[in-house]
Amino acid sequence: MTKLAIIGGSGLTQLPGLTIIDEIEVNTPWGKTSAPITVGKIDDTEILFLPRHGNPHTIPPHKINYRANLWALHKSGINEIIAVNAVGGITSSMGPCRIVIADQLIDYTHGRADSFYEDDLEVVKHIDFTYPYSEALRQLLIQAAVETNIEIVSKGTYAVTQGPRLETAAEVSRLEKDGCDIVGMTSMPEASLARELDIEYACCSLVVNWAAGKTDEIITMEIIENNLKDGMGKIQNLISAVINNK
Ligand code: HPA
Repeated sequence: MTKLAIIGGSGLTQLPGLTIIDEIEVNTPWGKTSAPITVGKIDDTEILFLPRHGNPHTIPPHKINYRANLWALHKSGINEIIAVNAVGGITSSMGPCRIVIADQLIDYTHGRADSFYEDDLEVVKHIDFTYPYSEALRQLLIQAAVETNIEIVSKGTYAVTQGPRLETAAEVSRLEKDGCDIVGMTSMPEASLARELDIEYACCSLVVNWAAGKTDEIITMEIIENNLKDGMGKIQNLISAVINNK
């Protein structure tokens, strides 16, 4: 049986529509999760919800305990995760308020604890990561978007940067030359840790600004927050549609 969790990002510290049944603290060998895990129901489907930046939002992307979060969800029986994140748009079809279901990523982060395999291992496991996101979950998101008339971009390459600062214009030019379409700070090591635990994992990204240098505008928190407010409702509707189809 599949058991789905939603990892919420900026602008999604709670999941509206979720009837809350319980909140659980899970002990992990890697320390504390960003917040207790909410157990709830949408219609008759049990869903777990974890806000990766904490609730309220206080944990920046480079300080998130990704290992604790993924481990705790795994221990709670989760085998599917839809991860929501806010991103900047790089290529021309990735304007503000677009929803993107990325199919590839490039990892530019550094210094993050990014594997469950360390120290004296009896077995070293090299996961296959050719396709970093679950195609089955991506298709569920794409199908739900078609059925509900929510416009999405059904593929793209996600550049994962270290943050918490935004990029320079030159860095964004380099990301574009590398083939990246969107830029955010949280899909790694989340995606590879999920793969290490054999969890199906896909991202649902909301573009909240043009990436640095893509317009004359300086990127302000006000721009980001306004686009988050405008777009998050669509993300919530999309997630509800995925759950209804399950
Ligand atoms: N860059 C990196 N992360 C982001 C951005 C951005 O422009 N916008 C939202 N998250």
